[in-house]
This record gives sequence, C-alpha cells and structure tokens, in this order.
Amino acid sequence: MNANIKRFLKKGALLQHVDDLCDGSLLIMDTSGTVVYDPGGMGGDDAAGRVESQAHPVVLAGETVCRVAGTPKAAAAAALITSILATDDEKRDLIRETLSKYREINLLYDITEKLAASLDPRDVAELAIHETLKMVPADHASMMVFDDKTGYLQVIAEIGSGIEPKAVVEVGKGISGSVIVSGKAEIVNDVGNDTRHVPGAARIRALMCAPLRLKDRVMGVINMGRSGEGSFTAEELKLLSAITLQTAAAIENARLYDTLKETFLTSVYTLAETIEMRDPYTGGHTKRVMEYSLAIGRALALDEEEQERLRLAAALHDVGKIGVRDSVLLKTDKLTDEEFGEIRKHPQHGENILKYIKYFGPVIPGVKQHHERYDGRGYPDGLKGDEIDLIARIIAVGDSYDAMTTDRPYRRGLEQAVALEEIRRCSGAQFDPVVVAAFLGLWEGDGCLTCTEKAGE
Ligand SMILES: [Fe+2]
Repeated sequence: MNANIKRFLKKGALLQHVDDLCDGSLLIMDTSGTVVYDPGGMGGDDAAGRVESQAHPVVLAGETVCRVAGTPKAAAAAALITSILATDDEKRDLIRETLSKYREINLLYDITEKLAASLDPRDVAELAIHETLKMVPADHASMMVFDDKTGYLQVIAEIGSGIEPKAVVEVGKGISGSVIVSGKAEIVNDVGNDTRHVPGAARIRALMCAPLRLKDRVMGVINMGRSGEGSFTAEELKLLSAITLQTAAAIENARLYDTLKETFLTSVYTLAETIEMRDPYTGGHTKRVMEYSLAIGRALALDEEEQERLRLAAALHDVGKIGVRDSVLLKTDKLTDEEFGEIRKHPQHGENILKYIKYFGPVIPGVKQHHERYDGRGYPDGLKGDEIDLIARIIAVGDSYDAMTTDRPYRRGLEQAVALEEIRRCSGAQFDPVVVAAFLGLWEGDGCLTCTEKAGE
C-alpha cells in the first residue's frame, strides 16, 4: 500500500470526518484494487467492478495513491483526501527544511566559535575546510590564500584534492583563480566543459568556489569539489559563502596576532641587545644562549608553548643587568665581595622589571632562577633540583657554556672540548644531569649542528 494512504488511514478523526461527509458510505481502495477502507460494507462482493465504473483517483505529485468509491460524493471525497495529503507533504517538507536550517545554524555557530579560538592561519584553514565538509558533502576541499610576498595564491589546507602542500596558483588562472579576480562565488557543475579549468591531480566533475572576502579585499578562496554524481546547489553556495565570511575574519585575526607577536618579539630582542651593548665584550652572548637553550629544549622534546617560554626567558635572562652599575658590570679587575653582591642581584632585578608586563609572567622563573644551582648552592633563593624551573635549568647550562668559551679582556675563552668537560663535571652539582645529557648529546658528531642548523627558527 502506498505510504501516503497508509498515513491517511491512521488519521482516525480526519478519516471519520471524510466518511461522515460521504454519509458513512466511503470506500477506499489501493492501486491494486484491494479495499483498504470500507466500514459501511459498501464494497460487497463486486468491489473490483465498482472501482472500474465509479472510482475517483487520489493523485499526489502525478502519482495515483488510491481510489475512492462507494458514494455519489466520491469525486469530492477524492479531492478532499488529495488536499489533506498534499498539506501533509508540505508540512513534512517544512519540518524537514526547518530542521536542516536549525542544523546549519548550529554548525555555523560551532564553526564561528572554533575559528575565533584559533590564532594560527593554517589551523584556521584546516578547521574551516573540515567543518565545511560536515555541512556540504564533497570529495575534495581546499583553501588558497593570496601571498603578498610572491603575488601567488598558496594552498594552505586541502583534503582529498591531491594538491601538493604549499602549491601555488597564479591569480586569474583556473576557476579558483578567476573567482579571486571577480570576487564572486561560483558553481561549475560541469568542470570539464569550462574553458578556465586547469586539470589537476584529482578528477573533479563539479566545483564550487567562494572567495574569502574582507571588506573590499579578496584574500583567498575555498574550493569544494565532487568527482561523482551530484551537482552543487545555490543553497550550498549560500552556506559556503556564510562560512567563508567567518573564515576570512578569523584568518585576518590570526595574521594580525602573528604580526603583533612578531613586533613584540622584535622589541624583546632589541631590548636584550641593547642591554648587551653596555658590555661590548659579551657581543652575541644573548643570541648564543638562546640558540643553545632552544637546541636543548628540542632535545628534551619540550612542547611549543614551553619552547616559546624558553625562547623569551633566554633572550631576557640578563635583563636585570640594567640595574647593575657600569663601574661594577664593566670592571675588568677582581670584584670586591660587595660588587659581587651587586652582580648577584641581577636575577631579582630581572623579575622586578618583567613583573609589570602580564605577558612576561610565565617567563619570570626562567629569568629569576638562571643562577640557581641544582645542588641548592645558587642564588638568589638557593632553590634545589626540581624546585628550579626547567627553563632556568636549561638556560643555566647554555649561559655557562657560552661564558666559558667566550674571550674576555682578562682571559681567553676555553676550548670547546674543555668547556664541555667542565659542564659534564658539574652535572648533578651546578647543573641538572638531564639537561647536561641533552646538551652534550647536541655535540656528538660534527660540532653543534643542531644549534647552527636550527638557529633563528
Ligand atoms: Fe645572568
């Protein structure tokens, strides 16, 4: 039996109402002639014959779903049932559409939240195409952004497209390239017949491209591709355009954050170098300590956040020397106890300088504790073992090694092998044995390759 008529037969009150209008003589047959409703017993033995002569069809979307007979009002009853079923269909479509819209709005809200939380342009791109695929089914998805330096479009995220990571595309070339120029979202459901199409690794039959637009500027494009059956619809394009709007804003935010961070780091390094310039004999010390420290950090598999903390703390480890008088800091003769006492205050000065900038909070332990000793005989607080921040334990090794190997006006620097031996000798006393092992490991083979290769990362 047709599903529509099955549903209608379950509508007890409504069915009764139609039957009443037919004076209780309503008879309904399915398309095969089987009587499915006949409470008045109007069908009798010759129901099939009556269908032939009197039945009126109920037609829905061009398809006969049942026939109505048994009453002189059969034509009106058939029309009424048709109208009831059609209204039902519309209601169902409306509910389906509302549910689908609700789902889309939810997903869009999710995307917006997730995108806003991401501060790396590539993370934003990856997230955007993953989330888009949840809403718009496709076989391939990619995002390209305009690279100001090269003047090309660069692929920064892709799924299933077969595009080489970091591949570049000429602006204006291919369908995506032309969307960048026109700034208008497009659906091309027959890619093979589009003259702009440049065949790629993946066989794409239908393509949908939406520009990443920020105010009047187009910064890139999101592409969705289907290889098999199924064309993209205007609804899907509308959805993709809504996503690109959020994505463009998130990418711009991430880029601004990057620029801000870069400017901030440049200021930090400039500050570190300015401090160093007070003592010309220590030229390059901060940079080298930073390189040794970061190499140790990598050897110890520190995560990105810890490496960042290490980088800043190493750059700023002697910032407190600002508070030490020139007559003491630059003195080449033997220091008096009082002068030593003044020098030993620089880690504390460092904390006092950095504590006013919230961002430096996590960096302070590395700066303040870089002269603490593993055996507890260091300064300023005499901390011991793991009480000392790992970042400070790392800087201590890099700092000492560089101090030993650098020429000073009153002595020549030690040979590399001698300095490394000294570091090894002090393992467990001045230095953390784990950090020492990682540092010595860097020099195995042909010099400190890890440091020199990765310097400036
Ligand atoms: Fe220091």
